[in-house]
Amino acid sequence: MSALRWTAAGTDGGARAGVLRTAHGTVPTPVFMPVGTAGTVKAMTADSVRATGARMILGNTYHLMLRPGAERVARLGGLHRMADWHGPILTDSGGFQVMSLSGLRKMDADGVTFRSHIDGSAHRLTPERSIEIQHLLGADVTMCFDECTPFPATEAQTATSMRLSMAWAARCRAAFVPRDGYGLFGIVQGGVFNALRAESVAALTEIGFEGYAIGGLAVGEGQAEMYRVLEATVPLLPADRPRYLMGVGTPDDLIGAVARGIDMFDCVLPTRSGRTARAYTSRGVLNMRNARHAEDLSPLDPDCPCPACQKHSRAYIHHLIRADEILGPMLLTWHNIQYYQTLMGRLRAAILDGRFTEEAAAIRAGWQERAI
Ligand code: GUN
Ligand code: ZN
Repeated sequence: MSALRWTAAGTDGGARAGVLRTAHGTVPTPVFMPVGTAGTVKAMTADSVRATGARMILGNTYHLMLRPGAERVARLGGLHRMADWHGPILTDSGGFQVMSLSGLRKMDADGVTFRSHIDGSAHRLTPERSIEIQHLLGADVTMCFDECTPFPATEAQTATSMRLSMAWAARCRAAFVPRDGYGLFGIVQGGVFNALRAESVAALTEIGFEGYAIGGLAVGEGQAEMYRVLEATVPLLPADRPRYLMGVGTPDDLIGAVARGIDMFDCVLPTRSGRTARAYTSRGVLNMRNARHAEDLSPLDPDCPCPACQKHSRAYIHHLIRADEILGPMLLTWHNIQYYQTLMGRLRAAILDGRFTEEAAAIRAGWQERAI
């Protein structure tokens, strides 16, 4: 094996099924990566994440550099060992989280200086330091350090921001130390402007990456606009490299993005929703705080193999939520991660069978049935 590689296994229209080969194992795509921001998929053990069928998780440079610190993670044996997750890990590069979480920040052409959202201490990230941190964490997939252009932004603001990210992408490539089974992904920026997206793809493919992410979406532009940007951008990307849509999304977003050629996703939605009492099911979304579940002995989703559905009733989960018991969010998180994994598995099987359109329609029709 040399660098991390993706190979196609089948296509159906614009949708693709494939296999990603990394230092910590292979991952069938399309794949949804649960978010393990601070070295844990919140409310889940690594074994329970694995039990849902999840094969790859995401970690965050920003959080881990602040606490417990990248050098400390390395001394503890790396993120895989620290978190007992022995499958592949993708780490985000920090730029996006600096912008959304940190206090006072100052950006210059070389990088960004910011204050920790935890204790106000001062820190600095540059493309080189972000790559070094991701190496210390032991990421299988390292992401380029970029700026997620805010939305809305003018075309001129978006161009300046995108071009900065492209200059940083070249510095990330130079700083990245190649190893068998490890890879570096470039991140396409350019907001909602087709010409800027095309310029960004050209800049990144000129440098050359093991995979290509599409960033700067799901920031308030709406689903129709996001799909329009994907339709303009994805066909410009190399067909033999994996494509990762960052921070997306709802189950409906995932189906629409897979249809448009995306292979990889991450999002806090299944985990965060679990902690706010919401359950994704084949009949739509349930709010488990709602009194209508109080004496309902049926499972969240009769088709779901997770322990919340196999062992417990809606009534019990409703009780746990109302009583503020920690098991409530744990069971709902497990269920939601399971729902996302089952969804991706169905989409992948349908692509390989050449019935993606029918499967997508069947899944969407299920959500329309009244969530009883
Ligand atoms: N997560 C969601 N969007 C983005 C983005 O544009 N850049 C990075 N680095 N992470 C993201
Ligand atoms: Zn379930």
